[in-house]
Amino acid sequence: MPAAFIPPDYFRRYGVKEIFGEGKECEVDLGCGDGGFLLTMATRNPETRYLGIERLLGRIRKVCSRADRLGLCNVRALRIESRYFLEWMIQPGSIRRLHYLFPDPWPKGKHHKHRLVQEEFIPVMHRALTEEGEFLFRTDHEEYYEWVCEYTERNGLFRKEEWEPGEEYAVTDFQRQWEAMGRPVFSAKFRRVS
Ligand SMILES: C[S@@+](CC[C@H](N)C(=O)[O-])C[C@H]1O[C@@H](n2cnc3c(N)ncnc32)[C@H](O)[C@@H]1O
Repeated sequence: MPAAFIPPDYFRRYGVKEIFGEGKECEVDLGCGDGGFLLTMATRNPETRYLGIERLLGRIRKVCSRADRLGLCNVRALRIESRYFLEWMIQPGSIRRLHYLFPDPWPKGKHHKHRLVQEEFIPVMHRALTEEGEFLFRTDHEEYYEWVCEYTERNGLFRKEEWEPGEEYAVTDFQRQWEAMGRPVFSAKFRRVS
């Protein structure tokens, strides 16, 4: 099965089985870029299914051709806007872990409305995740980190947990660039509260 997931209909929901051909749960990388994190995690954890969401066609093509070349059966990539996918295309309760790594920080106040994590986005993530599912967030931008922590915990749907990512948590392409510049990385894990 090729890595590219091209839905026959963009106006209905899909279960993990339809996307991957088998299985009930998966992990999703929102804004997966060129797929460095996605492909490394999929290589290391062949039993887990990894779905990359990305809006840029060139990046999705790169992820798919790399996954196909590596012969990875547990990777799919879909060109779509992240919120639309979570709100309208995935069956509720499907995602075990949601990764949101080094997103564009939209630092200017007048641009904050472009950030994915907003008050009304929290119930969208909550619905898409499995019971006890996790939302994992990493950024080099401290103010964006504080923003995401505040919005995610605000209405009691998620609980922040201690998390110090180790070697098992792959480095992303953007992370490599930031760390080479000596910038700090902020990480947070939130668990879905039923
Ligand atoms: C700064 S890059 C980080 C890429 C990757 N996560 C990493 O750490 O290397 C952000 C990525 O998110 C994608 N993106 C931004 N907003 C998006 C959205 N609403 N839906 C899907 N992809 C989005 C961008 O096209 C870009 O590839």
